[in-house]
This record gives sequence, C-alpha cells and structure tokens, in this order.
Amino acid sequence: MPIYSRILGTGSYLPPKTVRNDELAAQLALEGIETSDTWIVERTGIRERHFAAAGTGSVDLGEQAARAALQAAAVDPAQIDLVVVATSTPDMIFPSDAALLQARLGCPGGPAFDVQAVCAGFVYALSVADQFVRAGSVRNALVVGTEVFSQILDFSDRTTCVLFGDGAGAVVLGPSQEPGILASALHADGRQAGILRTPGCIRGGAVSGRPFLEMDGQAVFKQAVHVLESVAREVLEKGGRRASEVDWLVPHQANIRIMLHTARKLGIPPERVVQTVASHGNTSAASIPLALDSAVRGGQIRRGQTLLLEAVGGGLTWGASLLVY
Ligand code: ACO
Repeated sequence: MPIYSRILGTGSYLPPKTVRNDELAAQLALEGIETSDTWIVERTGIRERHFAAAGTGSVDLGEQAARAALQAAAVDPAQIDLVVVATSTPDMIFPSDAALLQARLGCPGGPAFDVQAVCAGFVYALSVADQFVRAGSVRNALVVGTEVFSQILDFSDRTTCVLFGDGAGAVVLGPSQEPGILASALHADGRQAGILRTPGCIRGGAVSGRPFLEMDGQAVFKQAVHVLESVAREVLEKGGRRASEVDWLVPHQANIRIMLHTARKLGIPPERVVQTVASHGNTSAASIPLALDSAVRGGQIRRGQTLLLEAVGGGLTWGASLLVY
C-alpha cells in the first residue's frame, strides 16, 4: 500500500470575461447601487473577477482545469480511477458534476461524486481523495474545485455581489512512497449555517426560498480569523512541521485582510503567501486550486516545497491540508 498520495499535476481555468471593480461599480450605478473600486480594494483586496458567459456551467470550467492538470501530470484520463468535484454551483441537482465530468473526460467505471463544503470544498475533497489513494482502493484520483458563483449572486446586494467570481482548478493525485499529503484537518459547525448561505431549493418544480447568496460578512470575518489559525496549527501539529518550515501558505482567496492576518498569527511572512484574490475574487471551492496552479505555473511553488492550504466557508465548514508538493 502507498504511504502517501502526492500531487502529480495541477491545472486551472478562468472564463475569459473579466470585470474590473470600476466596471462593476458602473454597472451597479445604473440600478442606483453605490460602490467603488476604492471600497472593494480596501476591504477585500479584490480588483477584478472573471464571470462565465451565459450557458457556461461548472462542468465546462472544471473540464478545462482537469484537462490541464492531467496534461501537467502526464496522466491519461483512462488512468483516473476516482473523480471528486468540490462545488456549490453544480450544473444539475443530479447527476453530480463529478459524474458529468467523468463522462466528458472518458474515464468511466470508478467512483465519481461531488463534495459540498462551499469555500472549504477543495480541502475537503483533497482529504477524501487522499484517503482513497492511501488505502490503495484507487490509484490515480482527479480532484476538482469549480464554481459559477455569478449564478447565485444578487446584483442588488452590494455587500456580497462585489466579492465573488467564477473559475476552476484541479489536481491529479497519485500514490507515492515519498512524502506528499502529510496531514489534513476538517471541521464543521452547522449551528452557524445562518451567517453564510444560499437558502433556496426546488420544491414541486419551483424555486422555494431565495436562491441567492446571503452573508453576514462581519460574523464570517470573526469566525474565519479564529478557525483558520486554529486549523492551521492543528494540521501542522498532525504533520509534524513548524510554521517556519512552510514554504508557501496557499489560503482560500476570500479577503486579503483575512489571509494576511492568518499568516501573521502563524509567523509566515506575506511574501510566502500565494495571493490571487486581486485578480480572481472569491471563487469558493475553486480558489485554492486556482491559486496553487497559478503559483506552480508561475514558478513560485517548486517540487519538494512544503505547502499549507487552509479555507473556511458556508456551513460553517473549515479545513487545512499540509503537503509536500
Ligand atoms: N460598496 C460600498 N459600501 C459598502 C459595500 C460596497 N460593496 N458593501 C457594504 N458597504 C458599506 C456597508 O453598508 C457599511 O456601511 P455603513 O457603515 O454606512 O453601515 C460599510 O460599508 C461597512 O460595512 P461592513 O460590513 O462593516 O464592512 P466590512 O469591513 O466588514 O467588510 C466584508 C465587508 C468585505 C464582506 C468583510 O466583512 C468580509 O470579508 N467578511 C468575510 C467574508 C469571507 O471571508 N467569506 C469567506 C467565506 S465565503 C463562502 O463560503 C461562500
């Protein structure tokens, strides 16, 4: 049995349409809603985001990211035994994005399922796939985070619609005797479901409840800074590493203030924090694999380096992974 699972390759995809803060502000102003580039940058660090074209879904974005990851890993789709997709914006109620993606890639037969843990979805999915690989029940696993949050944004609510974007990221995991994923830690507290949610659902063929994202930003902020530091410390302890040994912190890209606050608490300097929030916005489950792939392809993250991934999202859910890339 393999001792570890290891990331064999990464990939990502952003839909081509970008919307800068000033463009979004001008669009909202037409509806009498006031916001500004200055407010958004100062509070969040976001400068622009990508929005998928009408008719483009999370499977479309995920497929592009998956193909890039497979190519980087030099793994043929036929060699993928498990597909796990983290998303809160699937194409359908069912089948899952994972099943639809498996068909597109042409790797039928193995298990394929979605993980729904909102912005913590990718660390959840990575941990699940890691356990399948380490148990020897699959050889290669494809883990994808993909979102079209533009579809669940209420563009009359300036407190949320300026924060999110669309995109996808993916990794291929394979078995390894050399260190790969060292430790994972996952948590949830469903008592806090009300501070971040999209409460709508389908009942009898009609949408029941608001199908738009709602957030108490300050409550989420307070929880985020607390749980991210504690889960990061937990995973470092489990993996037997000190924060000073982390080469790159790859945080969920929701808010630059939260990301740098967590880094500061851990004693990780800002130059060792992968930062893509300015150009991606918050892409929920896609944000960590997007950031990871951009730092790998940009030559910042190199083989053998130690990475700490951490995220918090609706649920409340949160988690972290410590790994050697
Ligand atoms: N433009 C201009 N003004 C705005 C905007 C906007 N887009 N949005 C809110 N404001 C106003 C508010 O109305 C308020 O005005 P008031 O003082 O007159 O009442 C003022 O700005 C301050 O609002 P706050 O909510 O206090 O702003 P805050 O500093 O808390 O920043 C933010 C808001 C960015 C949402 C922050 O709370 C945050 O980042 N929270 C965490 C979000 C997060 O991390 N989510 C991760 C999980 S996401 C997921 O799982 C899907």
